Amino acid sequence: MKGRIFSGIQPTHGIHLGNYLGALRNWVRLQDGYECVFCIVDLHALTLLRDAGAMRRNVREVAAAIIASGVDPERSTLFVQSHAPEHAQLAWVLQCVTPLGWLNRMTQFKEKAGKNRENAPAGLYTYPVLQAADILLYKATHVPVGEDQKQHIELARDIAGAFNRRFDTDLFPLPEPMIQAEAARVMSLRDGTRKMSKSDPSDMTRINLVDDRETIAQKIRKAKSDSVMGVSYDPASRPEASNLLQIYAALADMGQGEAVARFKDASFADFKADLADLTAARLGPITERMRALMAEPERIDAVLADGAERARASAAPVLAEAYEAVGFR
Ligand code: AMP
Ligand code: TRP
Repeated sequence: MKGRIFSGIQPTHGIHLGNYLGALRNWVRLQDGYECVFCIVDLHALTLLRDAGAMRRNVREVAAAIIASGVDPERSTLFVQSHAPEHAQLAWVLQCVTPLGWLNRMTQFKEKAGKNRENAPAGLYTYPVLQAADILLYKATHVPVGEDQKQHIELARDIAGAFNRRFDTDLFPLPEPMIQAEAARVMSLRDGTRKMSKSDPSDMTRINLVDDRETIAQKIRKAKSDSVMGVSYDPASRPEASNLLQIYAALADMGQGEAVARFKDASFADFKADLADLTAARLGPITERMRALMAEPERIDAVLADGAERARASAAPVLAEAYEAVGFR
């Protein structure tokens, strides 16, 4: 094994193609080389999601999507953050070694808090410290995330260093961000300059893992096109066409150049038809497994309960070491 992976995904919503290509598919592959811990971070989701019913539904849906994508809960540890109270406990300790100035630099807080910063929840501000606790509790060496999370992983390194120095210990290894290059940003189907996102009000902008074949075909058929003839890759002048080509290449497991070559003489309509077929073929089996799992929520809950037990068995001794280091024991 090349090290220990920790990564997290928020249950703020169901899973779309961007989450799958940008995160889940990568998680599945990492299981071969690393000891993996994957977490559904509901404490983080609570910073913005205040609907208890949606929280409950999303946790199960996200768990089903992770398992259906190929994360094997026997091999990897898959659990829900709030089921392991050690996360919140270590987060408090780390808050006490994190200077305010470091948090003031976090760009995600500024984006998510928006203009009305005075009304933003304090949890949104300390969110990156909880994220550091997630990672450090498992002494993770590598953290696979999208580009947008790089700053948070660097902060986690800084916090680990600050803790080790302050308490004269080498308890926490410094985690490395692992930024995936390919399909790191899947864009909206209606606007190639914006990320595919569940928070977009229009469902036509994204492909959800729960969409059926017909819905996928319709969304791709109606995806924004431009007035240029044929298919070519040029993100600056043809963002939508380039995004679709990138999705094709990622799903077909080929280089972008190869995808471009394949469609160089095709009409845009033919390309879209092929892309729809490929997307449905790749996602179909995942969707089916996901539906089957969601029909048996007790099974999902049992997997998550087992995951929480294993997560706590690793986390509790590390929390105890941290408590010892600060003089709580
Ligand atoms: P979020 O939905 O923001 O909780 O993100 C969950 C994971 O999916 C993170 O690793 C993100 O980097 C990744 N992700 C979210 N949206 C996209 C997207 N449009 N393209 C690629 N990756 C994404
Ligand atoms: N903040 C991450 C995101 O929005 C989710 C997350 C929480 C995470 N804790 C983590 C990612 C620890 C990696 C490691 O995508």
